[in-house]
Amino acid sequence: MYRICGKKRLSGSIRVQGSKNAALPMLAASLLCKGCVVLHNCPKILDVYAMLSILKHLGCYVKWEDNTVVICTDGLFSCKVPKKYAGAMRSSVMLLGPLLGRVGCADLAWPGGCMIGARPVDIHQMALKQMGVRFESSKNCIFAACRGLYGAVVRLPFPSVGATENVIMAAVLAEGTTVLKNAAREPEIITLCKFLRAMGARISGEGTETIYIEGVKSLKEAEYAIPSDRIVMGTYLMAVLGTGGEVFLEGDCAGCLAAPLLLARKTGARIQERKQGLKVFMEEPSHVPIQAVTAPYPGFPTDLQSPLLALMAVSGHICTIKETIFESRFATAGELKKMGADIRIEGQKACVYGKQTLEGADVSASDLRGGAALILAGLFAEGVTTVHNASHIRRGYEHIETDLRMLGADIDAVGSH
Ligand code: EPZ
Repeated sequence: MYRICGKKRLSGSIRVQGSKNAALPMLAASLLCKGCVVLHNCPKILDVYAMLSILKHLGCYVKWEDNTVVICTDGLFSCKVPKKYAGAMRSSVMLLGPLLGRVGCADLAWPGGCMIGARPVDIHQMALKQMGVRFESSKNCIFAACRGLYGAVVRLPFPSVGATENVIMAAVLAEGTTVLKNAAREPEIITLCKFLRAMGARISGEGTETIYIEGVKSLKEAEYAIPSDRIVMGTYLMAVLGTGGEVFLEGDCAGCLAAPLLLARKTGARIQERKQGLKVFMEEPSHVPIQAVTAPYPGFPTDLQSPLLALMAVSGHICTIKETIFESRFATAGELKKMGADIRIEGQKACVYGKQTLEGADVSASDLRGGAALILAGLFAEGVTTVHNASHIRRGYEHIETDLRMLGADIDAVGSH
């Protein structure tokens, strides 16, 4: 549980953690090389621990040295991921591509994840079938197998991040060339491709909507540094917009936040984007109307929708946000209402009648980014807020309480997580 005493301006400098959504596909991709990979700046978060437990269960050797993790896959002996592992998080689905590429099979208990939507895997299956994969999925497991993988021209009906990653990871060892159209353009795709290229993969076009992958016979060992987490940096940006203050957020992902920074400047923030991070000046807490629509990258990220909802709740104006990526990602609105927020959900749109302030209350996280939003609401509110179900938040935030405390927030992690 987190306990926050609100209304403290933020100031100071913190280093932003490594990216969860870059690390997870890179950990899965380690299966594609018979040997060891070394990943630096890997965040110590529950989803990374869950992925590493799966790799160990499959026979891999895993070793941490501070925030560096070494994975050796010589001992890989299985392609079966039982429920107790896959159920813990959504990202287990991105083991499909690497396992099919390495051993020609994948037997995954149905991936779990946040309660932000049904999270189907039909796009993953449609794409991989075109590369020679056969699927048998029952209500609680996905079984995939192939006698070799073949390059294909695959057009995704939607630029799914996970499906893009799975196709790339299946294609790097496939026979022939794959052309992936309507691919996701998120920075995490670019990082994954750079890591795979360091292992000897032949990939081009990452970051655009068409990615070309020429299959090779095998991949070699590699070492790579995970970039900083743009969603964590964006979360802390939203925090200072709501408290006022002057902070420096150290991390190499400032260039991946164009849409959130455009919105931040509209609220009156003065921002300096530097190679090594983001300097944010916010004279007074934001009190302007805000409109936003989430969209695939480079649009406003859906993962910052809940933190933005918290900021809108104390904007003192009528604000709207439209969620176009997940079908039910407004669960946090109900908890914000316990703090006095006035939010009306109409389908995929939230209309927020921003107040001058919120009142501290007892609230519960029900998903990762919604939990972070409740911590932000606690920073903005009068009095004390306690945020329960902190384990949701620790799936993606390595040390949110120590980070915010270093910036002057009055926040503690209390009891079991
Ligand atoms: C990744 O999830 C991220 N997770 C999510 O971050 C992020 O919100 C999402 O991309 C969008 O940016 C990781 O990278 C580990 P999608 P992913 O496939 O790959 C539908 C966080 O908080 N869809 O782009 O699952 C899907 O239901 C997490 O860090 C299908 O319909 O996202 C959703 O509505 C949350 N069929 C939309 O597409 C499919 O086969 C976007 O999903 C696949 C997806």
